[in-house]
Amino acid sequence: MEPTYSINLKQLETKVRLGYHHLYLSMIKGERDLKLDDAAEVASALDLTLDEFHDVLRQKQFRADSRQTSLLEAPGRGPKRTGKPKPSPSVAPAEGKLGVLMPGLGAVATTCMAGVELIKKGLKRPVGSLTQMGHIRLGKRTDANNPLIRDLVPLSQLDDLVFGGWDIYERNCYEAATEAKVIDQPMLESTRDELAAVRPMPAVFENRFVTRINGPNVKSESNKMHLAEALMRDIETFKQENGLSRAVMIWCGSTEIYQSASASHQSLEAFEKGLLQSDPEIAPSQIYAYAALKSGVPFANGAPNLTVDFPAMQELAKREGVPICGKDYKTGQTFMKTLIAPGLKARLLGLNGWFSTNILGNRDGLVLDDPDAFKTKEVSKLGALEVILQPEEYPDLYAKFDHLVRINYYPPRGDNKEGWDNIDIFGWLDYPMQIKINFLCRDSILAAPLVLDLALFLDLAKRSGMAGTQEWLSFYFKSPMVAPELYPEHDIFIQLMKLKNTLRWMAGADLITHLGLEYYD
Ligand SMILES: NC(=O)c1ccc[n+]([C@@H]2O[C@H](COP(=O)([O-])OP(=O)(O)OC[C@H]3O[C@@H](n4cnc5c(N)ncnc54)[C@H](O)[C@@H]3O)[C@@H](O)[C@H]2O)c1
Repeated sequence: MEPTYSINLKQLETKVRLGYHHLYLSMIKGERDLKLDDAAEVASALDLTLDEFHDVLRQKQFRADSRQTSLLEAPGRGPKRTGKPKPSPSVAPAEGKLGVLMPGLGAVATTCMAGVELIKKGLKRPVGSLTQMGHIRLGKRTDANNPLIRDLVPLSQLDDLVFGGWDIYERNCYEAATEAKVIDQPMLESTRDELAAVRPMPAVFENRFVTRINGPNVKSESNKMHLAEALMRDIETFKQENGLSRAVMIWCGSTEIYQSASASHQSLEAFEKGLLQSDPEIAPSQIYAYAALKSGVPFANGAPNLTVDFPAMQELAKREGVPICGKDYKTGQTFMKTLIAPGLKARLLGLNGWFSTNILGNRDGLVLDDPDAFKTKEVSKLGALEVILQPEEYPDLYAKFDHLVRINYYPPRGDNKEGWDNIDIFGWLDYPMQIKINFLCRDSILAAPLVLDLALFLDLAKRSGMAGTQEWLSFYFKSPMVAPELYPEHDIFIQLMKLKNTLRWMAGADLITHLGLEYYD
């Protein structure tokens, strides 16, 4: 009998850039190929020559340690794939460096960036990030099989992220983070070198779309198509200079004025003609998105702008095989709404009114002080309640509620927003009750982990061959983008279930329906 090699896949994973599920399928099950350079790394980690390694591989002599085997072979991980909408994709490994490009290097972008550096140095923890701290159940509850998400699917490591971006101001990211005053200055000092090294590339900007700010670091070209081409050159240069194998783009720029889709937005042909003719209806964020998609770079929209939420961009995303998602990070008050409203509806408690107001003193607050920019935000914030409460299904409970949202720019508060909600509800025999919420939050602290997760999940989606709107990422957004025939899902718990089932599907695991009758057979 041939000897077997017991190996710790988790330790090997640090030598190559593959998830240990991939290693398991390649080395233990022999179902996937290892690339030559990964095979060389693994062989040398095991003290084998490449030829010996391949012999051992062929003879199926590798064994994972028992905990890992039970994790990866638990019921639900096998080839049985019941109830899946499509066969699971083959997910390319997260090899090489991933560029995270952000138009808008302000409070949110620099808080994400500084956070990643602090976490890499072991000075802080990635609280709030599903990709870093989240677990996912596989199989039955009795299987006790609950790995970290990042152990189930191959995500880029934090060490492999390279940040970059554009802004209308010339300050570097250390200066921008200092100005944003989100992270305490002594803590920020520990990441000074890394942040100072990120200097904004000149932006594509039009004051008409963001009226309250203006800056010198702006591109000038003869038409909007040339602006898009300049951005594509930036992306290519950034990839080459940093030796990147892939990139994603996450919009962290200011909220643009309210816009609905015009004729130029209806098809890719019309949009490209609009770019050539510098159609005034084409906003800067759309030019970034176009440049990203043309460069094969997935795009997430963290603001409520139109940006990628129109037919031309969806057509381009599908054509180029690139994932897109948006809109508007779900943090603060809307996050609270999507926690509470599903609970009220679950218990069939009625709603007479929901009044939400905020004070906010950062630059985002200044931009939103413009009524046209606020309108974009207001539309995004108002949508959630109607969809969660389904007044058409429950007219007695939800047909007539008042819903008001206010944002007040109040400089002393900086990034530390304070939100108040007054919720007038009614219960049994129509007796009225009230709920008051006073959320003293930190806007960018809530948004930063979402930026990181979106960067990693969008890259995963791209490596899984997924293109167009990524509804499974609705979890992160106030106004989730969906296929034209669908209403968006706003309930955060359904969104999380959808996200996790998508990850299970990508990993070839069984989906979880939460039916649970089998425990009582
Ligand atoms: N922080 C949150 O909780 C939260 C939640 C949802 C959405 N958002 C959205 O995220 C975005 C960023 O928020 P923030 O607090 O970092 O704002 P911020 O004002 O601190 O940063 C935005 C940056 O974008 C730059 N900018 C504007 N237009 C640009 C362009 N065309 N190209 C390049 N740079 C441009 C600005 O100069 C600024 O530095 C805003 O749109 C905000 O509405 C934030």
